[in-house]
Amino acid sequence: MQVWNDYLSQNKQRFLDELLDLLRIPSISADSQYKADVARCADAVKENLLKAGCDKAEICPTDGHPIVYAEKMVDPTAPTVLVYGHYDVQPADPLDLWHSGPFEPVIKDGKIYARGACDDKGQMFMHVKALDVMNATGTLACNVKFMIEGEEEVGSSNLGKFLAANKEKLSADIVLVSDTSMISMEHPSIETGLRGLAYMEVEVTGPNRDLHSGVYGGAVHNPINALCKMIASCHDENNHITIPGFYDKVQTLSEGERKALNDAPFDIEEYKKDLDVNDVWGEKGYTTLERTGIRPTLDVNGIWGGYTGEGAKTVLPSKAYAKISMRLVPHQNSDEIAAMFQKHFEAIAPGSVKVKVTAHHGGEPVVTPTDSIAYKAASEAIRTAFGKDPIPTRGGGSIPIIALFENILGLKTVLMGFGLDNDNIHSPNEKYDLANYYKGIETIPYFHKYFAEMCKI
Ligand code: BES
Ligand code: MN
Ligand code: MN
Repeated sequence: MQVWNDYLSQNKQRFLDELLDLLRIPSISADSQYKADVARCADAVKENLLKAGCDKAEICPTDGHPIVYAEKMVDPTAPTVLVYGHYDVQPADPLDLWHSGPFEPVIKDGKIYARGACDDKGQMFMHVKALDVMNATGTLACNVKFMIEGEEEVGSSNLGKFLAANKEKLSADIVLVSDTSMISMEHPSIETGLRGLAYMEVEVTGPNRDLHSGVYGGAVHNPINALCKMIASCHDENNHITIPGFYDKVQTLSEGERKALNDAPFDIEEYKKDLDVNDVWGEKGYTTLERTGIRPTLDVNGIWGGYTGEGAKTVLPSKAYAKISMRLVPHQNSDEIAAMFQKHFEAIAPGSVKVKVTAHHGGEPVVTPTDSIAYKAASEAIRTAFGKDPIPTRGGGSIPIIALFENILGLKTVLMGFGLDNDNIHSPNEKYDLANYYKGIETIPYFHKYFAEMCKI
């Protein structure tokens, strides 16, 4: 719509400057040192929501970091869109691999470089700016509610309680989220599923103290050696996960569904080149898109123990540790999988070591419908803004709260993400293309317009 494009082009610089201000706040939810910054970021989000046209915006304290809630109600008979996003970010380390400060955003080659540029400040902020566009041009077709949390990157452990306690306040017709990727600007897509997550920590104990590796080596089991062998045994020669029962609930997709998934544009050579790997890896019998989209995984996220300082120290350590995550697909349950992992790890531990397994946060997988009014509205919005129909894809990441929207609030979600897989989220030099930021701001108002129209029919 012309009025939107005009307003957007007149306010382009301001829309960018306001995002850059938000990116300057180091809202790292995982690190308690940044607690005050996280709170300051929540305030900044609230102020931005009020400025964009919300009638009401509030900071809702939780047992962890606060949730920002805001709303703009235009018409009690119009549908309501609940926008979910997160203002917290991942830690920025390793710092020395950043080309500029993670919280000193810079624009280079048309991209914003900063922690949170894409995940999720940049994407969340598109909705704030889209509200500004619709509000300023008097074209709001739906009521809009915002729930922007500060604990997504640490598992959203207080959000379920907030949903259960605020069902009325959060009542809506659809949840709209931009916190996922699309294939490319040439091939816009909508993720129609997310994987779940079970995240474990393992502690393996050998002798009761660190030992001289010459005096004792060869006679006492080294817990790091033991842990490595246990981890290695979790995949068989076909890269299948060996935990008993792990695949029991995994559904096999029909040939038609698999074909549709693999029809999405994907260039394996470009993929390898981008990552600088000679070959891909994964479960035998599945393509790369299937391995990330519809198959569960097990990965070590961190492993430590013994001596890792400068030079060499001969030591047979007392303890070894690993953080191990499993990505889950529909019908797998994170508690069940965590219990299976624990049982399996305890069973395969050799008698020469002790093993302690604990579970961190988890989350359930989701599949979002493609035959709903909201999906059609999102499709239509993308078709209008990009000139192309979006391709439905399955995302490999996790947003644990999405399953709770359905279970607690009875709400379906549309994952209208504008990130790219090479945005370096959770990694040094995270970026978000300005083109994606502005395209998102252009697309979102169409979603509201089409959703309101389609709900009427
Ligand atoms: N936005 C991501 C999830 C994501 C990224 C989904 C790309 C699809 C495509 C989210 O912020 C995230 O990082 N989630 C975590 C899980 C959470 C419990 C820490 C994840 O997927 O590791
Ligand atoms: Mn995110
Ligand atoms: Mn993230």
